[in-house]
Amino acid sequence: MSYSSFELLDHSRPIVVFGRDGQVGRALQICLNDLNVPAVFLGRADCDLTSESSIVEVLNHCQPKVIINAAAYTEVDKAESEPELAFAINAKAPELMAQYIAKVKDGLLIHYSADYVFGDSKKTSYVETDIPGPMSQLNAYGKSKLAGEVAIEKIFSVIQNETSSDSKNKPRYLILRTSWAYGDGDNFIRKILNLAFIQDGLCVVDDQIGVPTSASWLVEISLNLGFSRASSGIYHVVPDGEASWYHIAKLSIEEARQNGCHFTLKSENLQSISTLKYGSVAKRPHNSRMSNKKLRRALSEAGINVLIPHWSNQVKTYVKKYTESTMKTNSTLIV
Ligand SMILES: NC(=O)c1ccc[n+]([C@@H]2O[C@H](COP(=O)([O-])OP(=O)(O)OC[C@H]3O[C@@H](n4cnc5c(N)ncnc54)[C@H](OP(=O)(O)O)[C@@H]3O)[C@@H](O)[C@H]2O)c1
Repeated sequence: MSYSSFELLDHSRPIVVFGRDGQVGRALQICLNDLNVPAVFLGRADCDLTSESSIVEVLNHCQPKVIINAAAYTEVDKAESEPELAFAINAKAPELMAQYIAKVKDGLLIHYSADYVFGDSKKTSYVETDIPGPMSQLNAYGKSKLAGEVAIEKIFSVIQNETSSDSKNKPRYLILRTSWAYGDGDNFIRKILNLAFIQDGLCVVDDQIGVPTSASWLVEISLNLGFSRASSGIYHVVPDGEASWYHIAKLSIEEARQNGCHFTLKSENLQSISTLKYGSVAKRPHNSRMSNKKLRRALSEAGINVLIPHWSNQVKTYVKKYTESTMKTNSTLIV
């Protein structure tokens, strides 16, 4: 992969990355460090995103031209009982980041959002021009992520409308919506494999359809889009294909078995269950599918030759790497 467009970076002003210790944050650390790109990675202890003054202080101190916000309140069920906290982290904090970048010549804000900004208003894949909501169908997490998107777009809409001769250097924002992400951290695939070691039966939801997305691939796409001068806006960053949670669980277990994992779970005891029967605190849409057509077009227009794989190939690669590393350390339980 070519990252020649990294020449655009001002190496005297490191990128500021929020969410250092999350799945996407960890993938960003690996990628940016490999590329020798100067970056400051901030965890919760360095900057608590519930503190507006801390965010402003850190940005004024670091003076970045590029902010990547991989931090978020991501506990979907818990958000139902603490929506104010979810809104502070998922809406107010990105608003402050946008306010900062909007004043920076050639600045760039990369912010992650989610499939859960959509309810169940459509039976086919959502595209970027589809209107999110309806609000009555969104869970608190989805509402907070949508509020973050709206806040960013509002701030940048003022700049986009300004008629200036310096339009080439206008600050930009990329809102990258992704879904069902997995990387180095707590995620669905690890949970399923963990349970397969200790339980002889498992019921997994089969009537929610979405696109599982590898965090490291998401990061690769984010950086390529960001540094190729892709236009400001929302992009759906998901691989090809679609699956239910049940299908992802089945494929992950089969792949892990092929890689030598000896599970307690019997194949015939992996069963599908409906959302209704499974029950969860927060409501989740049946349709979480997002189309990656706009992404494909943007990459092609920028001359970026990045593969958009099928989700199943990414999951197989992930399970292979993960099972190899856990078996190496003789560990069956996921940390
Ligand atoms: N994971 C998914 O399935 C999924 C799906 C759709 C969209 N997304 C979006 O993708 C982005 C990255 O997700 P992810 O999977 O990497 O999430 P993650 O693993 O849960 O990481 C989120 C990070 O945010 C940090 N954070 C939370 N509250 C904070 C606070 N008050 N101050 C500072 N940092 C705080 C957490 O810090 P600690 O480590 O200290 O807790 C954590 O490191 C998010 O915007 C998320 O909404 C994720």
